[in-house]
Amino acid sequence: MARAVREQLGQEHRYVHVLRVARLADRLAARHGESTSNARIAGMLHDLARLFPATLLLAECERRGMPVDEFERANPIVLHARLGAELARERFGVTSESVLSAIRKHTVPAARMSRLDEILYLADGLEAGRSYPGRAALEALAFRDLAAAMLGVIRSSVADLQARGVPVAPQTFAALAAYERNEVGSSELPLAPQRSRACPT
Ligand SMILES: [Fe+2]
Ligand SMILES: [Fe+2]
Repeated sequence: MARAVREQLGQEHRYVHVLRVARLADRLAARHGESTSNARIAGMLHDLARLFPATLLLAECERRGMPVDEFERANPIVLHARLGAELARERFGVTSESVLSAIRKHTVPAARMSRLDEILYLADGLEAGRSYPGRAALEALAFRDLAAAMLGVIRSSVADLQARGVPVAPQTFAALAAYERNEVGSSELPLAPQRSRACPT
């Protein structure tokens, strides 16, 4: 799988990113009693469509009859997550609905996330190649409490997008509200650190 992923991603630094995401997802899955192989597969395949240009993302989604909402049409980059799940199925034969679900939700989180969804979202946002204040503390938190780490990473992501004037998906606000409603033990959370990254993950 590694060689095929490397060839299909088309960018060495993106390949290094997916390797780090797969490794962190594996460790988080082991810690939280999830399937480590599902976590590794989701990590390896989550960004298959990340480098597709906007026109290709829209065209490939439309060709498959996938519904594209208003936000996605205005910000096609987020479609790389949902299209990536289709490519994982078509090109790598992934049939596990839990793996496909995690890939679909790795960029725009949902109000209801499975543990594997959370693990991939966190591994993508917290892998050590990213550098922003609070990253290491949030990574450590993810090993103790997935929900608290989700709240911290979503907050941080929203703060970063807003600081850069990048629109935030309505579903991201819905997810943020859902995690805030269930917030427990929030004293562990660092205060909304500003992230610094070039584009949606
Ligand atoms: Fe991504
Ligand atoms: Fe990623």
